[in-house]
Amino acid sequence: MTTPTTLETTVNEISAGIYRISTAVPPGAIPGGFTFNQFLVVDDEPLLFHTGMRSLFPAVRAAVARVIAPTSLRWVGFSHIEADEAGALNDWLAIAPRAQAVCSQVAAMTSSDMADRPPRALADGEELVLGSGGKRMRWLDAPHLPHNWECGYMFESSTRTLLAGDLFTQPGADLPALTESDVLGPSEAMRLAMPASVAIDVHARAILNKLAATEPRTLALMHGSSYQGDGARLLQAFADALGV
Ligand SMILES: [Fe+2]
Ligand SMILES: [Fe+2]
Repeated sequence: MTTPTTLETTVNEISAGIYRISTAVPPGAIPGGFTFNQFLVVDDEPLLFHTGMRSLFPAVRAAVARVIAPTSLRWVGFSHIEADEAGALNDWLAIAPRAQAVCSQVAAMTSSDMADRPPRALADGEELVLGSGGKRMRWLDAPHLPHNWECGYMFESSTRTLLAGDLFTQPGADLPALTESDVLGPSEAMRLAMPASVAIDVHARAILNKLAATEPRTLALMHGSSYQGDGARLLQAFADALGV
């Protein structure tokens, strides 16, 4: 997947110290328009969740620079390995001398060769403390939900923010950074229009229950608006919609 490089990239703080970096692709490039979002968690050891595609690296780096010095980035996290989640990983490792990938144990086992420096692998439920600011990232395995064996998410416990990757992907290029409105309806319409975009297997309900147990107040979503509200209820509603 490639994108034009002259797109507008916005930065919005969606939880205390958590910034949504969003690049909108207009309908002319992707039908209906689409957004690619990364999330910057600021503490002594700043973490970027998702890198964007390699073609987006200059725009994402400039957006990060509005909040912190890009060279001070410590962690590069991603839900799973695809161009939009992790394509620019090595670009970040090249400009930030202390930066290291952080990912699931499965991702480290299957794909660490893709990274120019060894990743830090987190077990399901393991926490990564980012510093004196109180940011704590809990890794939650979510194999094949919505896709890829190595898939998982990060929960920042001090703000109750779940970095929920491709879950609740909504189409459109002109969306607010954060919404309290329904995101399940638009994301389900998109899922049903793209058959097999979500792997539906026997583990999906248990994974969604595990995510819901964190009782997130904010869902930081990779495509579309982030959601503020009863995250547990939304995750359970998604399980119901999947019919698992
Ligand atoms: Fe994906
Ligand atoms: Fe994605």
